[in-house]
Amino acid sequence: MMVTRKRIKTHPAAVLIGFMGAGKSTVGKLVAELLGVDFTDADEQIVRVDGRTIPEIFDQDGAPAFREIERQVVLDLLTRGGVVSLGGGAVMTPAIADALGRQRVVYLSIDPDEGFVRAQCGDRPLLAGDDPETRYRELLAERQDTYTALATITVDAGAGNAAEIADAVVTALADHLLPERNTP
Ligand code: S3P
Repeated sequence: MMVTRKRIKTHPAAVLIGFMGAGKSTVGKLVAELLGVDFTDADEQIVRVDGRTIPEIFDQDGAPAFREIERQVVLDLLTRGGVVSLGGGAVMTPAIADALGRQRVVYLSIDPDEGFVRAQCGDRPLLAGDDPETRYRELLAERQDTYTALATITVDAGAGNAAEIADAVVTALADHLLPERNTP
């Protein structure tokens, strides 16, 4: 007997994008809990796959090498289910931006003053120079249009605590989830 295997295409319930300090990982985890699905943080997955921390990858191999690992990891995650949060710069890789065109993309926007304060409490190689605040603002300005263009939903990450932001994301996602669920 011939068995035909149907290839079922999976994709995340939601992909969170946004700049450093927007709270993508914290909010993403809460959104996944509310939806009852798995959560994957792309940066954590990079560390798992590569075996080094992100600052180590930047220091030892440089930014382009990090972006290549990130590209491979993120493209793989985008073929799986659950909620996925991406590192702030992932959207600048053309293949990732292209793949995001077929996803439910939640942009967590953040005011630069608040975002910078939050981003300082992490180990972020791109903010390791002499003037991290200027660098933060420059990078955000460079990426702003890309975040906006890729977003199917935009939520202001400064409009409440993480639980409130997660609730707002889930409410906004409901509009995007229901029609697809009802499609035969
Ligand atoms: C980066 C953001 C980081 C991490 C890496 C590069 C960026 O993730 O991927 O340090 O280019 O903005 P977070 O946005 O989670 O801080």
